[in-house]
Amino acid sequence: MLIRPAADIRSSELTPEAAYWNRRDWLAAAGGAFAASALVPGSLRALAQGGSPVAQGTPYGLQPGDKPTPWEDVTGYNNFYEFGTGKEDPAELAKGFNPKPWTVKVDGLVKKAADYQLEDFIKPSKLEDRIYRHRCVEAWSMVIPWRGIPLADVLKRAEPTSQAKFVEFTTLFDPRRMPGQALRVLDWPYVEGLRLDEAMHPLTLLATGVYGRDLPNQNGAPLRLHVPWKYGFKSIKSIVHIRLVDKQPRNSWQLSSPNEYGFYSNVNPEVDHPRWSQASERRIGEFARRKTLMFNGYADQVASMYSGMDLRKNY
Ligand code: MTE
Repeated sequence: MLIRPAADIRSSELTPEAAYWNRRDWLAAAGGAFAASALVPGSLRALAQGGSPVAQGTPYGLQPGDKPTPWEDVTGYNNFYEFGTGKEDPAELAKGFNPKPWTVKVDGLVKKAADYQLEDFIKPSKLEDRIYRHRCVEAWSMVIPWRGIPLADVLKRAEPTSQAKFVEFTTLFDPRRMPGQALRVLDWPYVEGLRLDEAMHPLTLLATGVYGRDLPNQNGAPLRLHVPWKYGFKSIKSIVHIRLVDKQPRNSWQLSSPNEYGFYSNVNPEVDHPRWSQASERRIGEFARRKTLMFNGYADQVASMYSGMDLRKNY
């Protein structure tokens, strides 16, 4: 099992001090404006360091003190095992990956199954910029300005039948283009699942961009999920297949370590990972740890979907 908690991260993976001070200067300049608008819906523009794109979008569920994680970290510190297991591997090993053209298949328990070219699947005019919190199961977190559309929009278009209860997502399987798939670190292709109500929730985003640009390959180009109240591994990258099903799908991490990773994977500071605490997290680009919030700060929007469920059992 390769996932390690933030406390175990090698010092070589930590942000070099010089870069940290640059960021701090930037955050000091941008922080005031951001903090003032963070809790108010509306468009947000924060100044970025020269050369880096500008964080833009409507803040969703941000907490006081949340600031967009710098572009360099969002695109330089990644989990994408198809391109290596080190945090800096995907940015390097995915450089030559070409995500165009891209076809997405939507089928299963739907009235309108189809294969779509990406540009027909998600019309650029429908894209929204939304800033979300992102909490990895390894106890680190980020704040990310995604560009995408609610998953519900594309699911509704397919017209799920009354038998559809879950949605299964699959990443591209092509070891010639995704060199990490030559290693048996996971049972490829990467698969994930959501209950239909979770998939239809207005916060669940299909992202095609970040920081106002098309997704860099290491972030899951050209199309990935972001489910902000769940641990990051639910947010599957480089999706080629969306299937509506009647049974709970297996998901890659649950298949690989069933006693450590469940189907729901809702962020829950009260349920520890068997090998580390989930009570706090390290925000990438900062040193101080912060408390982890129930449902990653989205409890008001999503807790009702789990009422009556034992969240220790359904982890
Ligand atoms: N999707 C695929 N196909 N392969 C992966 O290895 N890693 C997951 C998730 N989606 C992963 C994936 C994990 S563990 C996390 S935390 C997020 O992607 C990381 O997304 P980011 O690199 O954009 O922060």
